[in-house]
Amino acid sequence: MVLFELEAARDRIDAGDIFFARHNLRRVHVVERLLIEQIDVLETISPQDFLAFRSQLAPASGFQSVQFREIEFLSGLKEPKYLARIEATPDEVARLHRRLEEPSLEDAFRRLLERRGSPSLIEVFRDRERQGDLFDLCEALLDHDEAFAHWRARHVLMVERQIGGKTGTGGSSGAEYLRTTLGKRFYPELWDVRSQL
Ligand code: HEM
Repeated sequence: MVLFELEAARDRIDAGDIFFARHNLRRVHVVERLLIEQIDVLETISPQDFLAFRSQLAPASGFQSVQFREIEFLSGLKEPKYLARIEATPDEVARLHRRLEEPSLEDAFRRLLERRGSPSLIEVFRDRERQGDLFDLCEALLDHDEAFAHWRARHVLMVERQIGGKTGTGGSSGAEYLRTTLGKRFYPELWDVRSQL
């Protein structure tokens, strides 16, 4: 659902329809909040009880999630190195390649700014009278970015709580690897502009 709505938001931005793009992004944000909240339920499992079935999960891992990478790529965070890491069917690999090649949400946003006379983000933020729709879109994109960062932080805490410093079933160093992903952002400029206000 997140992928579908992100794709729709990108296409709406390309069509200059900011109102509907925000409508799509609102749904993305609601789903993301559910994904964050469901972690509470998993944390009601004690670490001993989780260990009792963990070995049966291996070698399954979040690393196998093709859609997670698709969301990252479509949002604008394109890291091709993950293609080498993922165990996917030829069909899924083709999907990931397509996501790498196709315009991301960030590309669509950049093109929209160009069509609107290339204002800088600081200009958009300081001129809400005339650029209110662009400002609202910036904030909707930031909601998505922040929710994703929030999920990463929530997930790594759950991992530390359940398996401490053990390695992951997908072969990574576990929480140590996951902590290296916490600083990832889809739209760093939207975070930076805050320092300039
Ligand atoms: C107690 C439950 C969980 C544990 C202990 C856990 C552990 C881990 C670990 C150690 C990794 C690093 C990769 C590896 O070596 O396997 C990872 C990655 C990942 N997990 Fe989980 N996980 C849990 C639940 C979940 C849930 C519920 C989801 C999704 C709904 C999820 C989605 C992911 C994703 C998408 C990644 C890749 C993240 C990235 O590369 O940035 N995990 N998980």
